[in-house]
Amino acid sequence: MSLPPASFQVQPSAIGGETGVPGDKSISHRAVLLGAIARGRSSVHGISDGADCAATVACIRALGVPIERPACDTLWIEGVGAHGLRAPAGTLDAGNSGTTLRLLTGLLAGQAFDCVLTGDASLRRRPMGRVAEPLCLMGAEVLTTAGCPPVRVRGGRQLSGIHYQLPVPSAQVKSALLLAGLYARGETCIDEIEPARDHTERMLPAFGCAIVRRGRQVCVAGGQQLRACDIDAPGDFSAAAFFIVAASLAGRDTLVIRDVGVNRTRTGLLQALGSMGAEIELLRPRWRGGEPVADISVRPAPLRGIRVPPALVPAMIDELPVLAVAAAAASGCTRITGAGELRLKESDRISVIARGLRALGIGVQEAPDGLSIEGGTLDGGRVDACGDHRAAMAFAVAGAAARGPVEVSDVANVSTSFPGFVASARAIGMRITGGIGGA
Ligand code: S3P
Repeated sequence: MSLPPASFQVQPSAIGGETGVPGDKSISHRAVLLGAIARGRSSVHGISDGADCAATVACIRALGVPIERPACDTLWIEGVGAHGLRAPAGTLDAGNSGTTLRLLTGLLAGQAFDCVLTGDASLRRRPMGRVAEPLCLMGAEVLTTAGCPPVRVRGGRQLSGIHYQLPVPSAQVKSALLLAGLYARGETCIDEIEPARDHTERMLPAFGCAIVRRGRQVCVAGGQQLRACDIDAPGDFSAAAFFIVAASLAGRDTLVIRDVGVNRTRTGLLQALGSMGAEIELLRPRWRGGEPVADISVRPAPLRGIRVPPALVPAMIDELPVLAVAAAAASGCTRITGAGELRLKESDRISVIARGLRALGIGVQEAPDGLSIEGGTLDGGRVDACGDHRAAMAFAVAGAAARGPVEVSDVANVSTSFPGFVASARAIGMRITGGIGGA
């Protein structure tokens, strides 16, 4: 007999106090991948504790790289050098993690051996042509299954650098091409129309790899050998986002979230919430491992609807579900456009969010590339997160701000990015129970 999918029960809440969030997931994946092909022992401190990063670690171990965990938030990676990876014994399983699958595909395109990569049912529906096509232009042989995983990468190809304009803003595609570019003859240059998160190009120099950035272009020359280094991952802004919105909508006093990465390619949510009237301050701005970090202070404030500038969307792509919840509790209408990529995430986030907010009494219009949300008062009710971690946490925030209890079903995948979400949310005043195993 299989267990029913996990759910959250959330009551109207009063948020405040001080908290931290898990280490940045995007930075953690990259530190493991680059550490693996560097020479020598790299250490990663503040590693994300989610299942997505665990999938990257398991794949990299399967490729012959010893990785130890001397403390729960620290990894030691015994890098094997650019050509030290070994053929895995079986298929590499990225679980729910698109970042694992897409970045690894780029890394494996330049190896001497064949590999097959796959993932869970959600990941097997996500597009891989966007990575396979430019890699094939570089001379790789990458075969998808009708455009999706499983992906077969044939080894032993000589790659050549290309100049490539990303057709959609995607840090995963950009990063896959930069990783393949390390194995290519000549230079690989990638042009972006809108800047997607830039952690790979920030981290490569820390591993001793020269990168050239000119405006919206980034180039890497092939044949460079990476040197081990120590990476200190800041708190994940995408995890902090749920608490930022919860404290804006349902704050009892100030909430401070410590040590959060505030790289501008990630923090579009702060600009959007600022235009909506939110009271957010960045305290003690500083640098950690090449990334800007701050403590984020949030005070409750009445929000008003806005038109979200489409140019801001790439810098808040993972935060749009929780922005939609903020919009639902704001006065007036909020329009999100230029966000068609949301349909290709762990779920079709446009339709999952629209259905969920409607179930809580909010008027929502769906468009192919976004949402119009008629702000008002969130009612209690039952919503389905459809196995999507960010939808589950966004709906939990809706529950904290609603006038009645909210039940969120199918939330187990919160463990992919934020396994301690329920405990952390409770510690700042969210009245939430449930999740995996209950609480
Ligand atoms: C990520 C890039 C984004 C984001 C994902 C993490 C990364 O995806 O949605 O959660 O770490 O590179 P896309 O590159 O598909 O936009």
